[in-house]
Amino acid sequence: MDKLRNEINQRLAELLSPIKDGKVKEAMRYSLLAGGKRLRPLLFLTTLKAYGMEYHPYLDIACAIEMIHTYSLIHDDLPGMDNDDLRRGRPTCHKQYDEATAILAGDALLNQAMNTILQVSMDDGLKIKILTRLFAASGANGMIYGQQQDLYFENRQADIEELQDIHKHKTGELIAVGLQLASLIANEDDYDIWSQIGFDLGLAFQIQDDVLDVTSDSETLGKNVGSDIENNKSTYVSLLGIEESQKRVDMLFKKCYENVYAMHINHGVILELLTIILKRVN
Ligand code: IPE
Ligand code: IPE
Ligand code: MG
Ligand code: MG
Ligand code: MG
Repeated sequence: MDKLRNEINQRLAELLSPIKDGKVKEAMRYSLLAGGKRLRPLLFLTTLKAYGMEYHPYLDIACAIEMIHTYSLIHDDLPGMDNDDLRRGRPTCHKQYDEATAILAGDALLNQAMNTILQVSMDDGLKIKILTRLFAASGANGMIYGQQQDLYFENRQADIEELQDIHKHKTGELIAVGLQLASLIANEDDYDIWSQIGFDLGLAFQIQDDVLDVTSDSETLGKNVGSDIENNKSTYVSLLGIEESQKRVDMLFKKCYENVYAMHINHGVILELLTIILKRVN
């Protein structure tokens, strides 16, 4: 997984190089190249590998997914949203620069994601399918809708269905999308099962995040702990407690493993990545 992660990191740096020098480019580089687990692009690339495909022609699509994810984090940390000052082990973008620059850097990363995919040489019909799904996943019916609902349920407790809906959109969409895009490229017949796996994994991932917000420390996590309590967020921990939340994480991972095993692919790489996510400490 390290080799893949290095390839992603190197290519991300290259993809920002044509941008005009200035504060926005600096802030984009600062947030994008600050580490981060790169799970979303890894999910995309390992799924292609699981089908025995050569993934290099699609590396830029992996990078575009990571750009969108990083933009969502820059904006998520702004004072108008979660108001956090630590991300990926460093001051958040608006702390390091200023709010205007952080807003623009986020906008620019979203824009650069689109530019990057437009320039990939591949079948145009497939490219349009990929852009359509990726921008639906990150758009106002996807991740952005989830962020809206997350904010709406500050200072009021969501019930379990409402909470599941928040997590499905704010996190599930961008976790599922890598699996979905890989399936559009490698084998469209498997699209529905990858969607199922992706949304189960996304929910497990956000419940883990809710748990880590209360059980971890900022050094390990690289971001503020106690942020959800401070903002009076509706989380799995606030609704169900740590133990029941952890049970749900384990159940969802079990379901993901079973669904992956049932597919006719090279399971090894996907299972390795699932285990990295299951055991994550940050
Ligand atoms: C953080 O995502 C935001 C959530 C959806 C919980 P990650 O935990 O993947 O953050 P990075 O990319 O590794 O920094
Ligand atoms: C973030 O959820 C989801 C998105 C950025 C879309 P959180 O607000 O829980 O993520 P962290 O804990 O700040 O990383
Ligand atoms: Mg948030
Ligand atoms: Mg946050
Ligand atoms: Mg969180």
